[in-house]
Amino acid sequence: MSEEPALVPPHTRTIVELGSGDYVLIEALAEKDPETIYIGIEVDDMQCMQARSRIELQNVFVLHGSFKEIVPRLPDESIDGFIAILPDPLFIDEKKEEDWKPFYRHVYAKLKKPGAFRLVTEITDEILQPVSNEAYDRWSIWLVSAFRSIGFKVAAMVEGSPVEYSSRYLDQFRGDPERIRIATLDFVKE
Ligand SMILES: C[S@@+](CC[C@H](N)C(=O)[O-])C[C@H]1O[C@@H](n2cnc3c(N)ncnc32)[C@H](O)[C@@H]1O
Repeated sequence: MSEEPALVPPHTRTIVELGSGDYVLIEALAEKDPETIYIGIEVDDMQCMQARSRIELQNVFVLHGSFKEIVPRLPDESIDGFIAILPDPLFIDEKKEEDWKPFYRHVYAKLKKPGAFRLVTEITDEILQPVSNEAYDRWSIWLVSAFRSIGFKVAAMVEGSPVEYSSRYLDQFRGDPERIRIATLDFVKE
């Protein structure tokens, strides 16, 4: 018996980006990985409109809205990976930890087992002086413990951002590496 062509495209994985901004990163990732569906959630209407008119890839979905509202509505254990590149302080600031933790608990619940969450985030000094190694190390330890307390395991943590990643804010922040120290954390749910 001859096999019918699949009606549904053969996508095998779903990756969600939180706060896609200009959608340049998600577009680049999706282009190299056509069998994965990439969903970018962005609250800014203008950036979504520009991304929709620019991106022609079939495996990229531009979702306009707040990830705070959209992520909790996804089915549990349905997403292979989340990416957050330089989230706004409201969703990562040390002083606001108790406000943002409930959101990342939803992210954790929506991840499949196994699933992964890549976070690229930055530390700056309050008066914009270079960030000392001591401050960077203390911040790293706090970040890891905050996400561990949600249930994530830490697969890797390195200073800097993946070299192949480019986005408006990433490209801008990389220009000031002493005052804006970036870390990439790879969390997993097992
Ligand atoms: C610092 S920018 C980083 C953008 C992009 N990831 C980059 O690296 O250029 C943070 C982005 O998150 C978006 N954002 C903030 N809160 C959001 C929310 N609740 N839901 C969706 N997007 C949000 C902002 O509009 C902004 O585009």
